[in-house]
Amino acid sequence: MSLLKLLIFHPILMLSAFIGTADGYYEYRMSECVYSTSDYSDMVYLTSLSFNKVVELQFNSTVGKFVGITEDGVKQAERLNKDQALLQGLKAQVDTLCRPNAQIVDSSVRDKAVLPKVKLSSVKQAEGRHPAVLMCSAYEFYPERIKVSWLRDGKEVTTDVTSTMEMADGDWYYQIHSELEYTPKSGEKISCVVEHASSPQPIVEDWNPSMPEVDRNKIAIGSSGLVLGIIIAAAGLIYYKKKSSGRILVPN
Ligand SMILES: *[C@@H]1O[C@H](CO)[C@@H](O)[C@H](O)[C@H]1NC(C)=O
Repeated sequence: MSLLKLLIFHPILMLSAFIGTADGYYEYRMSECVYSTSDYSDMVYLTSLSFNKVVELQFNSTVGKFVGITEDGVKQAERLNKDQALLQGLKAQVDTLCRPNAQIVDSSVRDKAVLPKVKLSSVKQAEGRHPAVLMCSAYEFYPERIKVSWLRDGKEVTTDVTSTMEMADGDWYYQIHSELEYTPKSGEKISCVVEHASSPQPIVEDWNPSMPEVDRNKIAIGSSGLVLGIIIAAAGLIYYKKKSSGRILVPN
């Protein structure tokens, strides 16, 4: 138990620390920098202390003190919150740890974001409740985090939407697929909206129901085949004519 006490008295010294005893106690501390703006104005530093997988107390730099979650955590928070120097030091982590780290991470990861290739297509329906299914796929994007949503006449559709998870391609890129089942209405506008770190604006792909690309491709392949067939037939015919006119018939 003495080791455990020591650890709790000096949580600041460790980014993550472990105590493994023969009976398997596990104490650790997790520090997080949470932000969503590029100027880091909303940066929050969090540090959580857990024991045997249970988060017992947490420090949030916006709150400025520890808040106990479990009974034991409440007691620890009470004790730690008496230490003003500790609290000030933790609050300062927003500037001393989070913002400098975020700058490094952003220039090496976020700013290397790769724009997804978005493809909207019509797919064969399963035995769904609606006659039509659209699939919106985003390929080869980085990093993993992405949001794919559907708009029908400008309003977000949430029912009859099925999405896969982000799937790793195995080469640092990811792909994701989302299906919308719907009953077509004339004159409506359906769009797939992809939001990703690589683009400041959402990527919007509008559905053009006039002729699906697959059908266009089939027609193109079919007509190329037909033209090729005619050319070969014509060449054969010309060759045959030339041969037969040059041949001398020898009677038996
Ligand atoms: C930190 O605390 C503030 C104020 O209570 C709260 O709004 C915010 O959601 C907390 N942040 C996190 C990441 O928990």
